[in-house]
Amino acid sequence: MSKALLEVRDLKVRYDKAVLLNGVSIDVGADELVGVVGPNGAGKSTLLRAISGLVQWERRARRGAHGDIVLEGSITFGGTTITDLAAHEICALGLVHCPERRRPFRELTVLDNLRAGAYLSRDSRETARNLEKAFTLFPRLKERRDQVAGTLSGGEQQMLATARALMYKPRLLCIDEPSLGLAPKVRNELFAAIKAIRASGIPVLLVEQEVGKVFQMADRNYILSQGRIVAQGAGKVLASDETLRASYLGM
Ligand SMILES: Nc1ncnc2c1ncn2[C@@H]1O[C@H](COP(=O)(O)OP(=O)(O)OP(=O)(O)O)[C@@H](O)[C@H]1O
Ligand SMILES: [Mg+2]
Repeated sequence: MSKALLEVRDLKVRYDKAVLLNGVSIDVGADELVGVVGPNGAGKSTLLRAISGLVQWERRARRGAHGDIVLEGSITFGGTTITDLAAHEICALGLVHCPERRRPFRELTVLDNLRAGAYLSRDSRETARNLEKAFTLFPRLKERRDQVAGTLSGGEQQMLATARALMYKPRLLCIDEPSLGLAPKVRNELFAAIKAIRASGIPVLLVEQEVGKVFQMADRNYILSQGRIVAQGAGKVLASDETLRASYLGM
């Protein structure tokens, strides 16, 4: 494989004595949708939080206060080593993280939430284009553009979080559990939007509980369990492995 857009190598994360990631290596290519699945507590969110610099931010914030956070290994993005960059620097490089459990600015309207996502760009025409793109992907948000975000439904808030991430002009979008707690119909709308994002040329690293859906959508997948990658490959291949199904996939 030629050099991937995102390369994570032998990543280890410990919170005091707890080992959250125990030597994880993954790649995401520039034209891929890559899935990460695995049981609760496997370390999936921690992996995304380390990639986007949030674990390192927490480490700097709390050093020594409640035990140390240790992070080892390397993360490169577009050839740049980002392992120790600040989260906002990583975001500015185009590696954008849409975290678990959507949190819009509750008092702001949908439109102002999206504009807040575009603060890195000084180009107002580009912001307008991205806004149009976000509204094309999520027509419901367009209908509700002047509604205060705190009054959106759970599904609409997840759409807003995803749309807001797009306003940063991602070169790679990392999405953590977009379907969490949502009804099937809304989930399907979100998954369709994620496919459309990928089809528009933005690669995606997707963490999801809904294994069947990820396996359909993703080009490749990793199964994470207890802080380690235990298998990787196409969804079809992984889903036909009885041992993996029973041990890690809850299928
Ligand atoms: N700040 C923290 N301090 C100590 N342990 C933590 C911290 N954050 C997470 N953990 C632990 O690390 C493990 C991995 O957590 P993580 O949130 O990455 O799992 P996950 O795979 O995203 O799980 P889920 O599917 O439930 O979202 C869990 O056992 C969790 O309790
Ligand atoms: Mg998680």
